[in-house]
Amino acid sequence: MRSSSFVIYKPALKQVFPTSYVGITRLYASKPKTLKERLSELVPEKQEEIKNIKKEHGAKSLGNVTVDMAYGGMRGIKGLIWEGSVLDPDEGIRFRGYTINECRELLPKADDGEEPLPEGLLWLLITGEIPSKEQVQALSAEFAARSAIPSFVEDLIDRCPNTLHPMSQFSLAVTALQHDSNFAKAYQTGVNKNEYWLYLYEDAMDLISKLPNVAGRIYRNVYKDGKVPPIEPDRDYSYNLAKILGYSDNKEFVELLRLYLTIHSDHEGGNVSAHTTRLVGSALSDPFLAFSAALNGLAGPLHGLANQEVVRWIFHMKDVIGESPSDETVKEYVWNTLKSGKVVPGYGHAVLRKTDPRYTAQRDFALKHLPNDPLFKLVSQLYNIVPGVLLEHGRTKNPWPNVDAHSGVLLQYYGLVEQNYYTVLFGVSRSLGVLSQLIWDRALGFPIERPKSYSSALIRKMFEGQQQ
Ligand SMILES: CC(C)(COP(=O)(O)OP(=O)(O)OC[C@H]1O[C@@H](n2cnc3c(N)ncnc32)[C@H](O)[C@@H]1OP(=O)(O)O)[C@@H](O)C(=O)NCCC(=O)NCCS
Repeated sequence: MRSSSFVIYKPALKQVFPTSYVGITRLYASKPKTLKERLSELVPEKQEEIKNIKKEHGAKSLGNVTVDMAYGGMRGIKGLIWEGSVLDPDEGIRFRGYTINECRELLPKADDGEEPLPEGLLWLLITGEIPSKEQVQALSAEFAARSAIPSFVEDLIDRCPNTLHPMSQFSLAVTALQHDSNFAKAYQTGVNKNEYWLYLYEDAMDLISKLPNVAGRIYRNVYKDGKVPPIEPDRDYSYNLAKILGYSDNKEFVELLRLYLTIHSDHEGGNVSAHTTRLVGSALSDPFLAFSAALNGLAGPLHGLANQEVVRWIFHMKDVIGESPSDETVKEYVWNTLKSGKVVPGYGHAVLRKTDPRYTAQRDFALKHLPNDPLFKLVSQLYNIVPGVLLEHGRTKNPWPNVDAHSGVLLQYYGLVEQNYYTVLFGVSRSLGVLSQLIWDRALGFPIERPKSYSSALIRKMFEGQQQ
């Protein structure tokens, strides 16, 4: 299975085209379909579906846009199509219709594990279907086979000073991987736009495959001895990432990574990293350029960097009020954060209005594997206290914890204590969601994004003389 799959995955140009692997499919008729084979079947169906949706409903309204929305970060404007996931304010994320709990139950697992393999989630995000274990194993093998990074990118990472934030190094390296973009090369040779997605697919798979080597090298350089262990071709993506980081001996940590990479992957289309990927990609910038731009957005403290900020904030709290503070002193610490004009990291959300199920999934993991960890107990204490304070404060629309309120404590427990690195792991996971959609963006021929803007002077003029 592995060796025949490997032949199909070789990104030789002629294998990029569906016609070229029709023969291969026939040759391995008894084999389950590869992701690319399945996707090739789905693309024309989906193109037809979208054509019909536009024909039937194209002129219908998705809602009003108010002046407040235009000034308020476009909150609530329904202006994007995103196939992989939809976020319900109360229930949380569903990946292709499946809740996180359903994904944990239904997606294939490693032989030694209980958490879903993120490879399976990628399959689900791209196709809308739950893959078989065999299909997921083939994806793991494909990722390993594509994982090497060019030596000039290794040099580039090695030359970064350890003081350069890991996210900046990450974005830099992903931009440099653009050197080998199939899509950029094909565009230069004048490829027909109907075939864009085929090259996008190859780039997306290359990029996802190479991220463990990029992320791992940054970690090893900044925090360890700079030696990067090799990827194991017959192990899953999370195991290999754990191995490069130096934690693969710990089965629980590998399990944590499987869960982590699954739940951080996608959060519908409007968040900064997703929307940036879409926006930059819509200019036909290749996936490497689009994703590095997304990483720069993920590196902001109101988005992905919040996972680093949460741990920093909790450690500062421990310094100020001690290891086992009373509820009253915790409450006071939270109030002091708010009174000094700062946000409480890990709480609030632009769309969610209840506890983030990604938080709950990580809490489940902690209750199972580290129920007596002092830091987990602090995180739980905060869960009981912060929402009440934020409600009393009265500004935050959602006082409940988000994904970032919990991820750091789990990594701390297993010894990955370098907080500045946490957003890199988020970035590795986010590639799965945003690149899945980018493939579809090109397959469905989505145009360059170009919303309309107004100036404040024009807004005033438009509504001059109108009642409030
Ligand atoms: C996620 C976040 C950026 C969403 O922003 P948003 O959609 O503008 O949130 P809201 O509509 O609830 O914001 C209304 C007000 O509450 C404030 N607020 C929101 N969350 C807050 C928090 N956790 N702590 C303190 N104040 C908060 C906002 O800053 C805003 O203040 P303002 O009126 O003075 O400008 C925001 O909740 C936040 O900053 N959270 C902390 C950072 C974080 O955890 N980010 C990761 C998100 S997954």
